[in-house]
Amino acid sequence: MKNSAVTVSSLVLGSLLAAPALAQSEVAEYYNDRYCMTCHGADGMGSEGISAPRLAGMEPWYLKRQLENFRAGVRGTHPMDLQGREMQPMAVPLTDASIAELLEWIGGWEYKPAEITLQADAAAGAPLYAACASCHGSNAEGNEALGAPALAGQNDWYLVTQLKNFKAGYRGTHADDTYGAQMAPMAAALSDDTAILNVVSYINTLGR
Ligand code: HEC
Ligand code: HEC
Repeated sequence: MKNSAVTVSSLVLGSLLAAPALAQSEVAEYYNDRYCMTCHGADGMGSEGISAPRLAGMEPWYLKRQLENFRAGVRGTHPMDLQGREMQPMAVPLTDASIAELLEWIGGWEYKPAEITLQADAAAGAPLYAACASCHGSNAEGNEALGAPALAGQNDWYLVTQLKNFKAGYRGTHADDTYGAQMAPMAAALSDDTAILNVVSYINTLGR
């Protein structure tokens, strides 16, 4: 499944590279499920099978930074970052103008909270989350001034992967990853996989 999605998108990318600049009205038609939604799911709600997270409802400033980081190879180039390496080549052909158009398009997608897939100890995760709240907000609503995205409502399996990747140094270690460098030590402070599952389980209890 992963491989076929990558192959399909590579084919689509080939035609995108040759594409002329698109008017906003043409963007949805052009990118539609042939491209972003191929992996990120119908309506951008995330697709666990492909490990691609929800995009609908995410802050545009955060999406922008991630697309720029993927494009520049600041994220998604560590050899062990398997999920990031699926996304990284998708961002390479994007121009600043196409990123701006994508953000406008994604901003119009309907937001629905992600399905909860994780069963862990949310009560044990609550005190762990106290260390996160100063940046991500007490309701995990995000804080633009600090560059910390909303976590509430994101796919729990994706949050788990990111915390493991930050902790292992697969994300947030590139020399130009200023914001990732702020996050990495926070994940490192979570003692083990159980702590990661518990803190994400607590985030699942926070509404948006
Ligand atoms: C081949 C599958 C695939 C395609 C096509 C794809 N993505 Fe992704 N994307 C992923 C995966 C997998 C991840 C998770 C990376 C990780 O775990 O670090 C991801 C992550 C992201 C992130 C980071 C989200 C976050 O919370 O940090 C953004 C933003 C994103 N994709 C936007 C897009 C956009 C916009 C498009 C269309 C232009 C697109 N993606 C096309 C697979 C894909
Ligand atoms: C010092 C501020 C700070 C603290 C404290 C902090 N974070 Fe972060 N976190 C960030 C920033 C900044 C980013 C964005 C990194 C980037 O742009 O790549 C981030 C990103 C993340 C992501 C990736 C989200 C995504 O969509 O890809 C997760 C998951 C996360 N943090 C969870 C946590 C958890 C859980 C804690 C507490 C154990 C925590 N953070 C503590 C600043 C912080």
